[in-house]
This record gives sequence, C-alpha cells and structure tokens, in this order.
Amino acid sequence: MSYEIKNVWSVLLRLFHWSLVLSIVTLVVTGLYINTPWTNTTLEGSVSFPMATMRYIHFLAGYLFAAAVMVRLFLYIFGNRQERIFDILPVTPRNFKSLTTTLGYYSYLSDKHDERLGHNVLAGIVYIVTFVAALFQLSSGFYMLYPEAAFWQGLGGSIFGTQQEGRFLHHLLMWYFILFAFVHVYLVVWNDLKSPEGLVSSMFNGKKFKHKNV
Ligand code: HEM
Ligand code: HEM
Repeated sequence: MSYEIKNVWSVLLRLFHWSLVLSIVTLVVTGLYINTPWTNTTLEGSVSFPMATMRYIHFLAGYLFAAAVMVRLFLYIFGNRQERIFDILPVTPRNFKSLTTTLGYYSYLSDKHDERLGHNVLAGIVYIVTFVAALFQLSSGFYMLYPEAAFWQGLGGSIFGTQQEGRFLHHLLMWYFILFAFVHVYLVVWNDLKSPEGLVSSMFNGKKFKHKNV
C-alpha cells in the first residue's frame, strides 16, 4: 500500500478557514457579552466602557467574518477541484455514494471509509448549510449595525421583519455555530484517528496522504 502526498487545499481556502475560526470565536464571546454583560460595573461609561469595546470588537470580527464568507463564495465557483461546489453536492453517482458510505461509516454500521481528495459529501452538505447560515448571520448583523441604510433596511426588513426579530434570529444562529464548532472539531479528530490521511494537518499545509489510485 503505497501513499502519495496530494495538494488538496489552496492557501486561500486555508486562510478562509482560519479567519472564519478566529472571527467566530471572537463573535461568540463578544456576542454573549452584548447579550449578558458580565462585568456589571458602575464604572461603565466613565473611566471604562466595556460594552462599547466589546461591540467594537464584535463589529471588527463581523467584517472579518463577512470577508471570509465572500472568499468562500469565490472559491465555490473558482476554487480548485475539491473546493468547487459541485464536488460536495450529491448530484453525481460518485458523490451520492460518498454520502451513503459516510452515513454508514459515521453510524458505525460499516468500516468502509470513502477515500477522496476533498470533503466527504455529508460534510460538504453541512458546510453548505453553514455557509447559508453565515449569510443570514451577516445580513442580520449588518441590519442591526446600519438600521438607517436603505439597503440593509430593505433587505433586513423583508427577510427578518423588525430589528428585534432580526436580533432574535441572530442570537439563535449563534447557537447553530457553537453546535457546529463542537461537532466539527470532534468529527475531524475522530476521522483523523480512524483513517489516518493527515486530515487535520491538511488545514495547515494543504496536503493529504492518499493511496496512489485516488
Ligand atoms: C457567527 C457570527 C456571529 C455571532 C455568533 C454573533 C453573535 C451575536 C450576539 C449573541 C449578539 C447579541 C444579540 C442578543 O442576543 O442580544 C450580537 C449582536 C450584534 N451583532 Fe453579532 N454575531 C455574529 C456575526 C455578526 C456580524 C457578521 C455582524 C455584522 C457586522 C454582527 C453585528 C451585530 C450587531 C450590530 C449586534 C447588535 C449589537 C447591539 O445591539 O448593541 N454580528 N451578535
Ligand atoms: C482547532 C479546531 C479546528 C480544526 C483542527 C479544524 C479542521 C478542519 C478540517 C481538517 C477541515 C476539512 C475537513 C473535511 O474535509 O471535511 C475543516 C473544514 C471546515 N471547518 Fe474546521 N477546524 C477547526 C475549527 C473550526 C471551527 C471553530 C469552525 C467554525 C465554527 C470551522 C469551520 C469549518 C468549515 C466551514 C469547514 C469547511 C471548509 C470548506 O468550506 O471547504 N472549523 N476544518
């Protein structure tokens, strides 16, 4: 069984991934603060203004998050073979098989691992759901940030309704991202243990180890 080193993820995809991770962790921490400020200080607004600081960091991270999402959109269309959207949609017989094989593998019904260069299709579908959630998250965020701007007022008003409804969805979606992050990190480590091909390190160096015929 000889292995080969294959280049799988471009620098741009890896930059997207780690910018997304950095921004989401920051957004969750500062977002929870905006919701329930835990410093509870009487100094608020005099010598220090933690709420303003947290909101400022939230908005900065929000811009990074929005930029990362735009980069992913670009890569879905113009990325390498593994990064394009058609590689992860169950629209070809090969991709549909990846979905069923992975479902069997993840539920411990079979030991057959789907060896492919890019994401398995189950993961790919969840990444698309996450991408769509990110679009809603950033549009509700910008709706709250620029309530007076005609563009966000029109878009936000028609998708979310009132500011408070937009804010509620923004909050709910945060829990989706938290859940995703935990399940995702669990699954990439689990995969790395069960089928050693350098999965986790591939998000750093872009390379995976594969059998010659893959
Ligand atoms: C995964 C991404 C994000 C998470 C987890 C997140 C989380 C949160 C949370 C929990 C709140 C407090 C709302 C509440 O429960 O009362 C909040 C508020 C807010 N977020 Fe985000 N957010 C994210 C992305 C963004 C983005 C991309 C923007 C756009 C710049 C943004 C802008 C805002 C604004 C303007 C507020 C309202 C602040 C205020 O009322 O003082 N957020 N966010
Ligand atoms: C230290 C923690 C993390 C590690 C080691 C890691 C590693 C990886 C790896 C190896 C992949 C490719 C897996 C596959 O082929 O399906 C991946 C994809 C992905 N990860 Fe992470 N991840 C981490 C944290 C996160 C967090 C916190 C988020 C967001 C909440 C995240 C979001 C994503 C997304 C969206 C993809 C899909 C990339 C794409 O669109 O092609 N990751 N990650």
